[in-house]
Amino acid sequence: MKKLKIADGIHMLTMNVEDILFEGIWEIASGVTLNSYIVQGEKTAIIDGVIGWDGIPETLYRNLEEIGVDPKTIDYLIVNHMEPDHSGWISNFRKIKDDFTIICTDKAAKMVASFYGEDKIRVVKEGDTLDLGNGKVLSFHPVPNVHWPDTMYTYESGTKTLFSCDMFGAFGRMEVHCFDDELTPEEVDFFEAEGIRYYSNVMATFTPMVKKAIEKAKTLDIKVIAPGHGPVYRTNPQKIIDDYTRYTRYAEGAGKDEITILWGSMYGMTAKAVDFVEGILRREGVKYSKLEMPLESESEMVATVFKSAGIIIAAPTYEYKLFPPVAEALNEVGRKKITGKQAFRFGSYGWSGGAEKELSEIVERNKMNWSFIESVEFEGCPTTEDLNKVETGVLELINKMKDKVVE
Ligand code: FEO
Repeated sequence: MKKLKIADGIHMLTMNVEDILFEGIWEIASGVTLNSYIVQGEKTAIIDGVIGWDGIPETLYRNLEEIGVDPKTIDYLIVNHMEPDHSGWISNFRKIKDDFTIICTDKAAKMVASFYGEDKIRVVKEGDTLDLGNGKVLSFHPVPNVHWPDTMYTYESGTKTLFSCDMFGAFGRMEVHCFDDELTPEEVDFFEAEGIRYYSNVMATFTPMVKKAIEKAKTLDIKVIAPGHGPVYRTNPQKIIDDYTRYTRYAEGAGKDEITILWGSMYGMTAKAVDFVEGILRREGVKYSKLEMPLESESEMVATVFKSAGIIIAAPTYEYKLFPPVAEALNEVGRKKITGKQAFRFGSYGWSGGAEKELSEIVERNKMNWSFIESVEFEGCPTTEDLNKVETGVLELINKMKDKVVE
């Protein structure tokens, strides 16, 4: 756990968590940080906490003491968001201190009670404040459904710091550098990729509410954005606001100038056409990613489709339907409400088609509103004529996706 000063009376404690499935689902090969913030006036508040796993709350207490804060002097636990990656330590904290007040929204209060049996709670609404003394005044600003209904911002007016919890967060461990002005160009790229993965995996379903949360942030005079995961933006908080705005557009069909090939093949017939397509993309100088299902991690698959302006679905018919690993991937993308993409599908069949019908059902059922170039299906191994049709489709995709590119 690292201890960093944000301003006089405001500290961040941050730790890397690795080798877990985030939310029990998402592989996070590059880890994630849990950031807690301590605000000290005459009273002391901790904004967001840590997960409740063995040893982690104790690590938090030890680090608090190292910055001169006796955990037993904490008066307020500000629960910006009840998800246990931030609140899991509350029951452990209750064992060492009995007189603290939890501050949260009404939606969070219900869950704090049901998850941890807590009832010493002050429920706050938009604009409510908490004066900690010594010039430290916190105000509270609900931003529901990013991504849970309970979420709020906490804002410290003296330093103009926005404690945004999941909003403006990213996956990815922090090694030495934790502030935006310290990041190397490689680290900026790393947190762009990990921010996209975080947004697409965790936030994308709630894009309309994220947009409202961005608008609410714009109503506050912000100098510092201090999220619950990832770097603190103390020099250019507008960058992460702009990044999140761009991510909302990726969720609605825009993307980087690149193509994702989401593919699977039973016995190599569809794979022959995928090889052929790779040659076309190289020839045309188009950046692309190839995701073979079911080998690819779900986290990476969702993120890569999310950020791409063009999608190629290469999958055969299997038992009268779309090759199941690709169908499942598309269902997950649909569940994440990744809409409006420009796409093209091809694939082989043996004795009957059926993949195309299921693809349409997935897109309609999930209200994905994707635009498709006419698909190419071939019986068995693709012929030269089939491959010519595939090339025509790929070139049309490259042309049509230009309107979707937002870098
Ligand atoms: Fe970082 Fe939604 O918890």
